[in-house]
Amino acid sequence: MSPILQATGLVKHFDELKAVDGVSFEIGQGETYGLLGPNGAGKTTSISMIAGLLEGDAGDVTVNGEQITTSSTKGKGSIGLVPQELAIYPDLTGEENLLFFGRLYGMSGSDLDSRTDEVLDVVGLADRRDDLTKEYSGGMKRRLNIGIGLLHKPKLLILDEPTVGVDPQSRNAILESVESLSGEGMAVLYTTHYMEEAERLCDRVAIIDEGKIKAEGTRRELVSMVGQKDRVKLTGGGALGSAADSVLQLEGVTEASASDHGLHILAVDASSPRSFPESRKQAQTSPVSR
Ligand SMILES: Nc1ncnc2c1ncn2[C@@H]1O[C@H](COP(=O)(O)OP(=O)(O)OP(=O)(O)O)[C@@H](O)[C@H]1O
Ligand SMILES: [Mg+2]
Repeated sequence: MSPILQATGLVKHFDELKAVDGVSFEIGQGETYGLLGPNGAGKTTSISMIAGLLEGDAGDVTVNGEQITTSSTKGKGSIGLVPQELAIYPDLTGEENLLFFGRLYGMSGSDLDSRTDEVLDVVGLADRRDDLTKEYSGGMKRRLNIGIGLLHKPKLLILDEPTVGVDPQSRNAILESVESLSGEGMAVLYTTHYMEEAERLCDRVAIIDEGKIKAEGTRRELVSMVGQKDRVKLTGGGALGSAADSVLQLEGVTEASASDHGLHILAVDASSPRSFPESRKQAQTSPVSR
């Protein structure tokens, strides 16, 4: 099956700064793809080119088989963009915002009414539909922002850091909505700098920094690239420096350091008995209580 999104060789300079430096990736139907990277990595700039809002210096984007440029209109109907900055009208109610944006998407009549009801349910705002959005909490505004991107049932939903600045409960509600969308076959491009969000939501993740994709793959593939280690924290007192030195001699331990109140240890497969043979475990860690 051909991918919903194909982005190839995206490049964007801002004067001397190369904000996006040859970014390429694909997203298939029903796949949630994460762009994980720190502030300034080039996530929003890449997304802006993918959505046809920003002209790149090089590269090619197709969505659902249609080429996307700043002047194209055809393929853009397949994209739903949830921008990093909120894009809702504070003096309209939640429902009025959805109806307004729905009309911009060319929807009308009972189609728009029933889709508005569905979207309010998906984002958990049905009971607040008649309230002005300036009276919404930050998390509610974020959820409405997502709802607007969903209205026209896009083939590709792009979410740019949708959980920044929301409380854990709203964050969970947003993540649950996103999980249910990919279940319906929508392709989702999700940017975040939270590792745990990428891990929970995304089928594949690209790690982006300084405008370049540094690594890409499923969680398992990424872990196998860097190797997985367990971090063990022991709390206690005593001769922590020499305890750290002793622990470092144990098989599988790659790092051991003393802190004010215990030891920090990095080990390969820490739960394996091979790493901490019973007899040595007793002797080596005796000054420290777990
Ligand atoms: N319009 C612009 N003019 C000049 N520089 C820009 C512009 N937009 C972005 N940049 C620069 O491009 C780089 C990438 O920015 P971008 O917004 O794509 O990062 P990001 O990964 O989305 O970061 P964040 O997580 O903070 O949103 C940054 O160094 C930023 O300062
Ligand atoms: Mg950004």
